[in-house]
Amino acid sequence: MTNVGTIGTSEITKTFLKACIASRAFKISHLYSRTTAKAQALIDEFFIPEATADDDLTKFLSAPDLDVVYVASPNSMHFSHVKAALEHGKSVIVEKPAFVTPAEYQAIDAILQQHPELHVIEGARHLYDANYLAATEKVRQFNEITGATLAYMKYSSRFDAFQAGQNPNIFSPKFAGGALYDLGVYLVYAAVDWFGEPLSCDYHATKADNDIDLHGLARLHYEKFDVALIFGKDQQSFLPSEVYSHRQTLWLDNLGTPARVRLYDSPAVYTDLSQHAAENPLYDEVSAISQMFTNREDERFDHYWQLTGQVNHVLDQLRHSAGIVFESEQN
Ligand SMILES: NC(=O)c1ccc[n+]([C@@H]2O[C@H](COP(=O)([O-])OP(=O)(O)OC[C@H]3O[C@@H](n4cnc5c(N)ncnc54)[C@H](OP(=O)(O)O)[C@@H]3O)[C@@H](O)[C@H]2O)c1
Repeated sequence: MTNVGTIGTSEITKTFLKACIASRAFKISHLYSRTTAKAQALIDEFFIPEATADDDLTKFLSAPDLDVVYVASPNSMHFSHVKAALEHGKSVIVEKPAFVTPAEYQAIDAILQQHPELHVIEGARHLYDANYLAATEKVRQFNEITGATLAYMKYSSRFDAFQAGQNPNIFSPKFAGGALYDLGVYLVYAAVDWFGEPLSCDYHATKADNDIDLHGLARLHYEKFDVALIFGKDQQSFLPSEVYSHRQTLWLDNLGTPARVRLYDSPAVYTDLSQHAAENPLYDEVSAISQMFTNREDERFDHYWQLTGQVNHVLDQLRHSAGIVFESEQN
């Protein structure tokens, strides 16, 4: 079994640990936190006494029984954590968005070229979701795509704190937060996975005083159609997502966490394509990626790595079109 260690101790790391335990995918061997007690608290909470808690990153990454590192630090720190893990001979699962700039992606790509035995895979969890995969199968069967409207907008649990004058990482340019990099990335991923890289794209963002984007509208332009992206973190939307092929419409109730998928042949006639949705949103992803490591599926790793680069490139173009500048790219 592949041994995994985690960086970060927030809710998403807990969800990842639960998914590992429920799916019996990875063996959790090490937890890193800036505060050992926080890592130890997770070891206790999830009854994994065989795992080790560490607050020394080099020691954590040097552990001989550590194979894969799950990086769930703030966005702007992904690059340095991924680079350090690779330099210690460990493969990586990095939370979305994997990197902030194309330069970061290219620097990691250069390391991977030198170390074909290592892999980096982005935690774009919806790509592995059974309902997303059911939708993908139908999208690929359409003879012609005539357009799409993709939506993902959730009122953030940290927006009240942001409005109260606190500075949560996810609303901070220092940590590469904001609506596009946090939630828009799911929609960009679906568009690039389904239709490829757009010919051009632009993003119109509504921003806060610190210049972070709170919500907005993006357009991806393809040769024969356009894709509209609607996303945000400061308001709540119940819009579904749709892919059009003239009379037919592929419909998902929620592209971020799809539970219902339909193929409409006319307004009143549809085929229900819905699959069982796992309770844990990372369950399908963790199961799929652990299989990829176990079976050494190099081509699949390579496919997802190329996708990561394309998504990174589109995110970068969208961000610049909206005039959003992150602190890390000024260094
Ligand atoms: N796939 C999903 O469904 C999903 C959901 C939520 C988030 N995410 C992704 O997961 C990542 C983490 O998001 P989050 O909202 O959980 O982030 P966060 O709470 O801001 O930080 C995550 C962890 O990073 C460490 N950290 C926080 N601030 C730091 C700093 N200034 N310097 C160094 N380490 C710091 C903390 O761990 P320690 O205190 O233990 O060191 C913290 O638990 C992001 O990339 C986000 O996009 C994915």
